[in-house]
Amino acid sequence: MFKTLTTLVISLLILVHASTQDTLYNQAIHQLNQLSQNFTRSEIYNIDNIEGNLYIPQFDPLTNDYDTRKQIPKNDPPVELTDKIIPMLIKSATESNNPHAYSTLGDLYLFGNYSLPTDYTRARDYYHKAVEIGPDGHAYFMLGFIYSTGLFGTFPIDQERGNLYYHFGMENGDLNALLVMAYKNYKGIGVPVNCDLSLNYYAKLAKYGKQWFDVNDISREVDYNIRIPDFNGGLYGEKMSEMPSTIEIRSKYFNDLKNSIEEFKLNSNEHEYATLYYNGLENYKGDYFIPKNLTKAFQSFHECVQLGDEIYGANDYRNVDGMDKIFLSACQTKLGRMYLYGLGVKKDVAKAFELFQLSLRLSQTAEAWNDIGVIQEQGLLGPPNYEDAIKSYQSSIKKKSANANKNLAKLLMNLNGNKEENPHANDQVENIFKYMKEAVYLRDTEALYYMGNFLQSGVQKVFEPTSEPPSCTSILVYYRIFIERLSQFYAPHLKYAFEELVAGNFKNSLIGYAIAAEQGLEPAQISAAYLLYQLQPLYSKLTPKTFTPERVDMAIQYLDRASKQTNVDATILLGDIFSGECQSAVPQDNDRAFNYYRIASDKHSSHGTFRLAEMYEYGMGPVNDSVDYFMAKRYYDSSLQYKEKFDFEQKNSFSKVTFSKSHIDWALLRLRFKYLFNRKAFTDSGKSEGGWLSAFNTVSKRASNEKQHQKQIDSISKAEAHHEGTTGYGEEYMEDYDVGDYLVIALTFTFFMVFFVQNIVRQIRRMRNGQNNNNNNQNENENANENANGNFQNGWNGNQFNFRRGNFEFHFFAI
Ligand SMILES: *[C@@H]1O[C@H](CO)[C@@H](O)[C@H](O)[C@H]1NC(C)=O
Ligand SMILES: *[C@@H]1O[C@H](CO)[C@@H](O)[C@H](O)[C@H]1NC(C)=O
Ligand SMILES: *[C@@H]1O[C@H](CO)[C@@H](O)[C@H](O)[C@H]1NC(C)=O
Ligand SMILES: *[C@@H]1O[C@H](CO)[C@@H](O)[C@H](O)[C@H]1NC(C)=O
Repeated sequence: MFKTLTTLVISLLILVHASTQDTLYNQAIHQLNQLSQNFTRSEIYNIDNIEGNLYIPQFDPLTNDYDTRKQIPKNDPPVELTDKIIPMLIKSATESNNPHAYSTLGDLYLFGNYSLPTDYTRARDYYHKAVEIGPDGHAYFMLGFIYSTGLFGTFPIDQERGNLYYHFGMENGDLNALLVMAYKNYKGIGVPVNCDLSLNYYAKLAKYGKQWFDVNDISREVDYNIRIPDFNGGLYGEKMSEMPSTIEIRSKYFNDLKNSIEEFKLNSNEHEYATLYYNGLENYKGDYFIPKNLTKAFQSFHECVQLGDEIYGANDYRNVDGMDKIFLSACQTKLGRMYLYGLGVKKDVAKAFELFQLSLRLSQTAEAWNDIGVIQEQGLLGPPNYEDAIKSYQSSIKKKSANANKNLAKLLMNLNGNKEENPHANDQVENIFKYMKEAVYLRDTEALYYMGNFLQSGVQKVFEPTSEPPSCTSILVYYRIFIERLSQFYAPHLKYAFEELVAGNFKNSLIGYAIAAEQGLEPAQISAAYLLYQLQPLYSKLTPKTFTPERVDMAIQYLDRASKQTNVDATILLGDIFSGECQSAVPQDNDRAFNYYRIASDKHSSHGTFRLAEMYEYGMGPVNDSVDYFMAKRYYDSSLQYKEKFDFEQKNSFSKVTFSKSHIDWALLRLRFKYLFNRKAFTDSGKSEGGWLSAFNTVSKRASNEKQHQKQIDSISKAEAHHEGTTGYGEEYMEDYDVGDYLVIALTFTFFMVFFVQNIVRQIRRMRNGQNNNNNNQNENENANENANGNFQNGWNGNQFNFRRGNFEFHFFAI
């Protein structure tokens, strides 16, 4: 459902009221609900084929749809819908003048639910009719969306009108519109920047979210707030993208783990706990393709615990094998939790408690201690015992539990007759603040909400009277992240968007992502941009796609917004678009491209810095398009350095993503040759005399002066990263590499000599063998370098810098 829960409740109330007047409408809604239970789509993507394979077809402006005819036959909408429900709604709308009937009709034709062919003009008219009868928050919101996006070329864009309708929507209690307005005021999109107002809106939104949070467990929900290009390894494919993936296909991940464990454990009995544990987890939460099944999850965990009991129970769980210890204990904790909350089994707190105790004997886990704390605090077995609860939480906190930090902070807030709403008066206020902050750092979601509250009401003033009050934006960040993590509540249309994507209804999918993009969710902005403007890999055999200017403009807008939310891949892509490398419909604009690359470079993006260097090298830079090898060299060096740093961080975070750096090596080599053949360009700028070595060294000295400055930036971004609950940068990445200057040059020339001699030898051999292929080969060899260079300029989408001639990679350090 598109409306968020609160508005849903309200509209349900209205429904109840209206039911006396409009039975026809109620009947229609009832049948729609039935339809939703039985409706299935035929899917073109599944867990096995989506990765690396997500292809957005050509958009055809004539039919106003993506060209999917060859791929999938269009599904027909169910007859109940077309022959019964829609006529009923139309009748209700026209005869009883029911605004909700109009609004529902608008939704059906805009979203295309149940495979109903969309009709945007009709949808717009229905929404207009709805608000003519009376104010309707949802209809206003949809009108705002229609006018501010123009539905990607269907209507002319009218930003002012769109904003006006969004505003009306917000005034009439529509949470979607409120989120849009919060974001617009925050970033100053179509309205002046107004942080205080925005904070106001976000705080209000967060309150609704918190109410929802209190009755829903998001830890068992799938988060559809994803960037769909991440299925293809990111905007730039696996090797070049620098943003971490948002995709988490748990079942695949668990399978990998299971397999690798099985590889190392040859005796088949020994990894049974692990296998059962991962099976259980897979069903406990589900993912984009596998629905969760608590019954199955319970069965797996139960079997795991049972097995442990059979084998180790008699011996009182002594001498348990190390590996089994971990997984058996984990199974017990999970099973205990299922008993504790009655998931997939009847609630049984005593049983849960017993399992937690048992698991603690095997392995002291944060999870078990935390859950024991919950039982003690809430008095689920006997009277509440706060002292014991605090002790349990603290044991859990020692193991870095986010949950326990939050639970302890909340417990302290409520102890001794204190009220959660007023932590100021609490003598534990400093501890409360401390634990809550720790919970935020450990990525607890609810703690973000509390921290936002604390900062907004100035709690830290109580124990730090001299501290500066936090800035508006720094408070706002907490609420924003809280809202982003609760996308299931704030943006249920994301789930719809994903389901339509998987079914190959790209047009409907785009609507869902675009709404979330308007609401400021960065992953959705990327997804919407991708649906509007997915370029093909360089060597694709498919016919090149064309894009209408409206859609490209819209894609650029979304990319720009994502870029402003620190998506560095989006920043670089914008640079590529404006430097004319993407066969794009926009005119080349080197200045803009340069600016984007510089922004990326300032964020220490290796890829962006590389592009910047290229602009200097090829004279596309800012200063009268002059070639500047010094700056080029400097940025290639930085690019290499950022790359080392990036790899270091990746290694630390156990992520598999690393991208190839051979393109940087190539560029440096190229530059070196340019120097050899064009010394003038290097000495002309008057910054150095001497040989090329000292010329380059001057540059690196200049660069090192700026290192100080960069350190500052580093510490700021680190602080921010901390702020946002992400991890900071690693410290010990490569910084200097002056050693080996001469060695490198020697090696380079040796390499080329060998290469050269080899080729000559080969040529001679071939000449002996026959004269036929002679010319061809020579040409190919000469082209090899050029090909490689051409590749670097087109890094878009999974281009992996294949060198067709030979697989050589030089890893020498720059000077
Ligand atoms: C159609 O789908 C949208 C998007 O999920 C949803 O918000 C809306 O309620 C649906 N409409 C109907 C009539 O089912
Ligand atoms: C779902 O479909 C089945 C058979 O196709 C039908 O018997 C059942 O009544 C339908 N359920 C609903 C809720 O419409
Ligand atoms: C969950 O799994 C059980 C046992 O395999 C099965 O009987 C049940 O139908 C499944 N439930 C759902 C909702 O898929
Ligand atoms: C760029 O060119 C303009 C006119 O051609 C000239 O006046 C200006 O000084 C140049 N700028 C630089 C930095 O060379």
